Amino acid sequence: MSETMRALQISDVTPASEAALVNVPIPKAKPGWVLVRVRGIGLNHSEWELRHDEIRESYITHPIIPGIEGVGEVVDPSDQDIEIGQKVCMLMGGMGRMWDGSYAEYCLVRADHLFSIPEAAGDLSWATLAAVPETFFTAWGSLFECLQLKATDTLLIRAASCGLGYASMQIAKALGVRVVATTHREKYFGLLERFGADELVLDDGSLADKGVRADKVLELSGPKTLRDSLRCLRDGGICCNTGILGGEFTLDGFDPIKEIPNGRYLTGFFSNYPTQEVMSEIFAFVAERDIEPFVAKVFDFDHLVDALAMQDGGGFQGKLVITNES
Ligand SMILES: NC(=O)c1ccc[n+]([C@@H]2O[C@H](COP(=O)([O-])OP(=O)(O)OC[C@H]3O[C@@H](n4cnc5c(N)ncnc54)[C@H](OP(=O)(O)O)[C@@H]3O)[C@@H](O)[C@H]2O)c1
Repeated sequence: MSETMRALQISDVTPASEAALVNVPIPKAKPGWVLVRVRGIGLNHSEWELRHDEIRESYITHPIIPGIEGVGEVVDPSDQDIEIGQKVCMLMGGMGRMWDGSYAEYCLVRADHLFSIPEAAGDLSWATLAAVPETFFTAWGSLFECLQLKATDTLLIRAASCGLGYASMQIAKALGVRVVATTHREKYFGLLERFGADELVLDDGSLADKGVRADKVLELSGPKTLRDSLRCLRDGGICCNTGILGGEFTLDGFDPIKEIPNGRYLTGFFSNYPTQEVMSEIFAFVAERDIEPFVAKVFDFDHLVDALAMQDGGGFQGKLVITNES
């Protein structure tokens, strides 16, 4: 095995136009950490934030290889009870921020953020597997752990035209849930319908006054529209704030007594705590229900920078995925 690998490594704000793959040493396995040959990488909005802004923060390790998720095969299990060659996924827990992430040919993964991919999903392509971990874990946790979604619910997905929105809709529709989807651009109505939306709403920030009502609200636009989402809840309803696409990150001057209507509930989801049990359930669900994650485009690892350019350019829908099968 060679001593070096190709990776994207950044120390400062790095738009795609300034990004380049470089050669760095392949990390060595050590107790509590597993070396993985990266076969697939899903790109996330949060890595865009890292490259364009968050990289300036002192809690980010400098330099850092970005990438908060990936899939691949175990190369060196170190002291962990896992086979060489096992298909795995890895996500979060400081990956791509505090410790080097997946934008590389190899990744040294903290063992408690490494999960076996169950046999039920073993035949799925690397591109499909790569689109699952972070997006589907976040959708799953938001829908089940936080929103306690039931088949009889009406689910409002606010800012549904993002990777997380489409995945949430795929899971909810597989269970027969009625979905009301909002988007900031009417041109996405066709796609949202294709993914199963029962009702479409062009979101101008004010839905409650138009009579939009739901048992559960998945808020992906975030604090910008959260107050309005709370007013859309039916009696006993729950709103989960998971996204921040609206560009506002906190709720200034929030008065919970007056702004959370009586008998309605507000929660939030943070994808930092995946478990083997939940990841196995998700991969099995995707495989058994024939769910095809919405992949906008698959790039070969050699063209990682092109994927970043597409991410920077925007105007696309679905998940950008990079594979490395050589
Ligand atoms: N809580 C957690 O742990 C967690 C985990 C994962 C993701 N997230 C958050 O969830 C959100 C979605 O993440 P993602 O990775 O799925 O994003 P993504 O697909 O990469 O987001 C980009 C897409 O969102 C669309 N968009 C931008 N602003 C929008 C708005 N106001 N309303 C509707 N769509 C909008 C963009 O469309 P246009 O280009 O046409 O504007 C683009 O297609 C992000 O805020 C992300 O930070 C949270």
